[in-house]
Parts: sequence; structure tokens; C-alpha cells
Amino acid sequence: MNFTSILSSWYQENKRDLPWRNSKDPYQIWLSEILLQQTRVDQGTSYFHKFIETFPTVQDLAQASEEEILKLWQGLGYYSRARNLHACAKIIHANGNIFPNNRIGLLALKGVGPYTSAAIASIAFNEPVAAVDGNVNRVISRYFGVTDAIDSREGKAKIEVLANEVLDQSHPGDHNQAMMDFGATLCTPSSPNCSSCPLVQGCYAFANEKTQSLPYKAGKTKVTPVHFDYFVFIADSKVAANRRTGNAIWKNMYAFPCVETTNGSNPKPVDALEFLHSTSNGQATLKHICQLKHLLSHRSITADFWEVTVAGKLEFRDDNTQLYTEDQFEKLPVPRLIEKFWHIYKQGQ
Ligand code: ADE
Repeated sequence: MNFTSILSSWYQENKRDLPWRNSKDPYQIWLSEILLQQTRVDQGTSYFHKFIETFPTVQDLAQASEEEILKLWQGLGYYSRARNLHACAKIIHANGNIFPNNRIGLLALKGVGPYTSAAIASIAFNEPVAAVDGNVNRVISRYFGVTDAIDSREGKAKIEVLANEVLDQSHPGDHNQAMMDFGATLCTPSSPNCSSCPLVQGCYAFANEKTQSLPYKAGKTKVTPVHFDYFVFIADSKVAANRRTGNAIWKNMYAFPCVETTNGSNPKPVDALEFLHSTSNGQATLKHICQLKHLLSHRSITADFWEVTVAGKLEFRDDNTQLYTEDQFEKLPVPRLIEKFWHIYKQGQ
């Protein structure tokens, strides 16, 4: 038996029962792939159910507000993906709710890249194309002994060729999902289960004790440390929040008025007053609530949260900042960091 048929037999026995696998509906398959760009299968499954229940069709998603979608996406991070999801749904809806039925057409959709287009084309439309994700990089580089960096042009090209050579041409969707399951459950990053692996006999990495060094990656992402001081203005059981505009992280999500610096800071009440009209003046007091660390792909954030109470009226300079009741605030889409803070803050009250 060769690689392809061994993998196929393994998949018949070990296939994970995942909700989008019960359907050939391109909407469900597209949605699952966009969610799984962002999260692992276990968390992705619960988000998938939430999305399908709330938006059973692409039309429902297209007609939703961006805020509803961001709220449902909350906790996954990388919110531009949620905005792309919405933009795509609108385009597909305008096209009579018909998805492009091939890889090239799918690639034209926002947020759909080489991997996702191949995954959807193969799973929903049986197009014979290998979908190369992190799992496939790992399985192929270990099995065939690709020692070039998987983030180099040469490494990517070699993996792509090999992944397409072993592709099961008659069942490309199952084959691609078999690779994903195999990589996620058996050929895992740090402790692959080689003793149960049906492909162990032909595996280069196993024979050469290289499972720990393959796949090889050259560049590491640069992570910049940043410091946020959040001012949590409280008045009459209401809290001030603003919608983040511009193109910085968390665009269109809500947070508290914030000062961003590159190193630590020790804000003074006057820094909080900067957010207010001079008409609202009065004295401010700051109370430190907590410090939280939050890691994003390119930034490591240290955030200090300061409760601000102001003697006098709260009138914000920026129209985007408003007071919300706690119920209203909890319905707004907020980044995970703000959600974590809010949970701590409420517990302390
Ligand atoms: N990761 C991305 N897409 C997947 C799929 N269809 N099945 C399992 N894992 C995945």
C-alpha cells in the first residue's frame, strides 16, 4: 500500500465526526474553513454551531449587521476575518447566493487564500487540489524529509508538489481532511504518536530521528511589546466605551478610552481628564484595578486598567465615546482582553 491508500484506510477508521462534514453546502464548508483559520477544531465547532444557528444561510449572514457578526466572533481574535466574512457574504448574496464553484473563483473572495480555496474547492466541489495548511506541512515534511524551510519559496514549492502527488484524485475532499485529521491527532507538533502511526515505515523523520526538527521554519514573527492604560469611567452604574476606528487592531470593536505607549506608564488623574471636555471638569480619582497581559500574533500587550471617578459631569471630547449601562455594554463586541477585564472587575464589585 502507498501513502495515499494507507492514509485513506486510516481516515475511514479514525475520521473525526465534525458538523460541517455532514454537508456539501458550500456555505457551511466556507464558514467552517474561515473559522478554522482562526481556531482549533474543538473551539471552532462551537463557533460553527453558533453561526449556523444564527445565520442558517449566506443570505442571513449578508443581511446581518457587522456588529452582530463581530459579537458572535468575539473571542476568536483577528477581527478583520469576521469583517471579510461579512463582505464575502454580501458579494455572494448579490450573486444570487451562489458560491464560486472552483478554486480560482473562490480565490477572488476576500479572506480566501491558497489553502482555504483549495479546501473549499476539494470538499464542496470535488476539485482535485491539495489544501496545504500547517498540518500538511508537518506531515509531508516529516514523511518525505523536506528539510528546506517551510516558510521559504523553495520549501513551499516542494511541499506543494509532494502534497499534490499524493492527493487522492478521486476523493480530494476526504483526502485533504484526512491529512488534517492525521496531522492534528497523530502527527502532532511536539509529541507525534509514531508508535500508532500507519505511515511509520516510510517516514523519513522517524527513520532519521528528526520528528522534533521537522518541519523547519526559518523566520520567527517579530513581537513588539506595547503598553495600554485603559480608563474605565464609571458614573451612575454606567461605563464609558468607544468604538475603535482607523485601521489599528480591533477596528470597530469596543473598548475603554486608552493611552498607548511603548513602555510602562504611571498615569495621573489629569491623563484621564484629557478625554473629557473642559466643561465637564472637576476632579478625577484613579483606582488601579488590575494588570493583564495579552499576546497577539505581532504584539505582546501589557494593559493596566484604571477605574476613574469624576466629580462633575462626564462629557467626552470624542463623539465616539458614550456611556452604556452594564447590560448594553455586555452586548457590544469587545476584544478578549476587555472581556477578561470586565469579568474580573464584576467579580470584585
Ligand atoms: N482544519 C481546517 N479545515 C478543517 C477541516 N475541514 N477538518 C478538520 N480540520 C480542519
